[in-house]
Amino acid sequence: MAHQSWFWVVASFSFLIWSEAVGGEFYSSVDRMQDLAQVEQELLNATRLYLEQQQQQLELYIRYVEQIKEEHEWAMEQAHLDEYLGHPLHAFRLIKRLVQDWDAVVFEPIVANEPKEEFRQFLEAVTTDLGYPNHLELQGAVKGLARLQNVYNLSTSHLAEGEIGGYIYDSVLEWRECYEIGVQLFDLGDYRRSLEWLQEAFTLLRRNPEEDEEQHARYMSDIREYAALANFEVGNPKKAENLLNRILEPLPNHTAQQTLKYLENREPGKNLKEKTHSWSANYTRLCQGRRLSEESTGHPLKCFLDGKRHAYYTLAPLQVEPVHLDPDINVYHGMLNSEQILSIFEEADKLEMIRSAVAGTEGARTVKDLRVSQQTWLNYTSPVMGSISRIIQFVSGLDIAGAEWMQVANYGVGGQYEPHPDYFEVNLPKDFLGDRISTSMFYLSDVEQGGYTVFTKLNLFLPPVKGALVMWHNLHRSLDVDVRTLHAGCPVIVGSKRIGNIWMHSGYQEFRRPCNLTSDSYKSLAYRDSV
Ligand SMILES: *[C@@H]1O[C@H](CO)[C@@H](O)[C@H](O)[C@H]1NC(C)=O
Ligand SMILES: *[C@@H]1O[C@H](CO)[C@@H](O)[C@H](O)[C@H]1NC(C)=O
Ligand SMILES: *[C@@H]1O[C@H](CO)[C@@H](O)[C@H](O)[C@H]1NC(C)=O
Ligand SMILES: *[C@@H]1O[C@H](CO)[C@@H](O)[C@H](O)[C@H]1NC(C)=O
Ligand SMILES: *[C@@H]1O[C@H](CO)[C@@H](O)[C@H](O)[C@H]1NC(C)=O
Ligand SMILES: *[C@@H]1O[C@H](CO)[C@@H](O)[C@H](O)[C@H]1NC(C)=O
Repeated sequence: MAHQSWFWVVASFSFLIWSEAVGGEFYSSVDRMQDLAQVEQELLNATRLYLEQQQQQLELYIRYVEQIKEEHEWAMEQAHLDEYLGHPLHAFRLIKRLVQDWDAVVFEPIVANEPKEEFRQFLEAVTTDLGYPNHLELQGAVKGLARLQNVYNLSTSHLAEGEIGGYIYDSVLEWRECYEIGVQLFDLGDYRRSLEWLQEAFTLLRRNPEEDEEQHARYMSDIREYAALANFEVGNPKKAENLLNRILEPLPNHTAQQTLKYLENREPGKNLKEKTHSWSANYTRLCQGRRLSEESTGHPLKCFLDGKRHAYYTLAPLQVEPVHLDPDINVYHGMLNSEQILSIFEEADKLEMIRSAVAGTEGARTVKDLRVSQQTWLNYTSPVMGSISRIIQFVSGLDIAGAEWMQVANYGVGGQYEPHPDYFEVNLPKDFLGDRISTSMFYLSDVEQGGYTVFTKLNLFLPPVKGALVMWHNLHRSLDVDVRTLHAGCPVIVGSKRIGNIWMHSGYQEFRRPCNLTSDSYKSLAYRDSV
């Protein structure tokens, strides 16, 4: 069973598909993963059918052969074979068998092997279908794993043992899988992580040796050779040499010989590039749910009920959690119930299906299609979206006329959105007046682990809470951009994160949020350079 569920974890990682959208963010989608699971289910079904058909065919041959064998044995029991064959019926049957039966029952089907041909065609259809994941997607998945490790400080050995962030999941990696991850990370140039995974593979293989000793030695050498290369790249040429010599002791003709020569003319550690962003430290810390305590504002923010904001909220006051004062960031709890959220998903799914039907041939859903439809935009005509637009207007006091359609997005395992502002500042979209004055983000799911929203300049993290709404202004009252609003979606460790975003533009809000002629944009100045 452990193996079975590991499949799911590996599959999730393996099939993450990184797609680049506005601002170069990457994310993956659990919805798409479910479709890949469907692809595998089809592969499984086809393979089982093929094996069953082959088995039936084999049984048929066996029965035929048995029957003839019996006939022969009976013939041999007769006193004289020539007498037996002298019988015209016996002679006829022998000739008929050789001329017709062997051919029809055995030779032809074996040569034609129709189930095999059908299976071959099926495989061809599946693998040439654009929907089948390729090598790049495997690399993307491994990158996602390494990113989870970096952001959440997950140790390689814990991860291999199925322990993630203190929780133990029923899935364990084998040495081969660790080796494969190590090799992929090496190809991606992440040599330090590669080395960790190779080390893990080595430890696991030594703990559970292969039965065939020669095979075992070969595998150990494969790991050592890659580990030597990775050591060389992290600037450890001595260690690399030792590892290669360990291989050559028992196997002087091993390719490690060439590897040793190859490394002689190269400079160790030359390719080691460790790029970090200015926001990395804050991002990592906040994603892990850690705030700098010395940064606490001195006047702790208290939750309160607000029944005055709009007549709509007189009877059921807003549950406001102010999480930051300047810029103002508020969380409004309990804004959507489960039925409303379900209606939103149904609407998004409908659109997705329409799009896939247009993109796919004969309704065949390919993964490529799913890639473009992982985020959907909903307008405000349906009943549920009508109530969303009312919520947004009543809570923000802004006019929905300036709102973009709601973007519904789905992030899967490792899915993240690196720090970015929501305003454009330059190249404003032509369909709207002004820049994005505010962001309203609905959390449409709880997330088992990870997936926080963090503001890297404000020492603030928000765990997703299903049904809650986060709202803030991206512009100062002067309509200058507020660079302090830089924020990010942390990688999802376990679970699926769904959000709905609505961006309001400043053009329609003259009477709703009058701009202040006294510029307040000086507040952003100190934060500019550290973007
Ligand atoms: C695979 O076969 C099972 C039953 O054998 C069936 O329920 C399922 O729908 C099939 N799945 C696909 C994708 O064909
Ligand atoms: C990461 O975890 C290790 C223990 O597993 C700990 O020693 C180290 O300090 C942690 N690093 C950070 C940056 O949290
Ligand atoms: C290594 O290769 C050489 C020449 O190709 C051969 O003579 C020698 O026997 C090989 N040694 C081993 C241990 O296989
Ligand atoms: C809004 O969305 C619905 C459902 O997707 C669609 O039928 C309708 O045409 C859209 N309205 C506008 C104005 O685009
Ligand atoms: C990191 O966070 C602190 C507040 O916690 C902030 O003062 C600083 O500017 C942030 N650094 C960057 C690079 O965003
Ligand atoms: C305009 O900004 C100034 C300076 O920040 C502030 O004192 C004043 O209250 C603001 N006026 C309005 C109407 O918000």
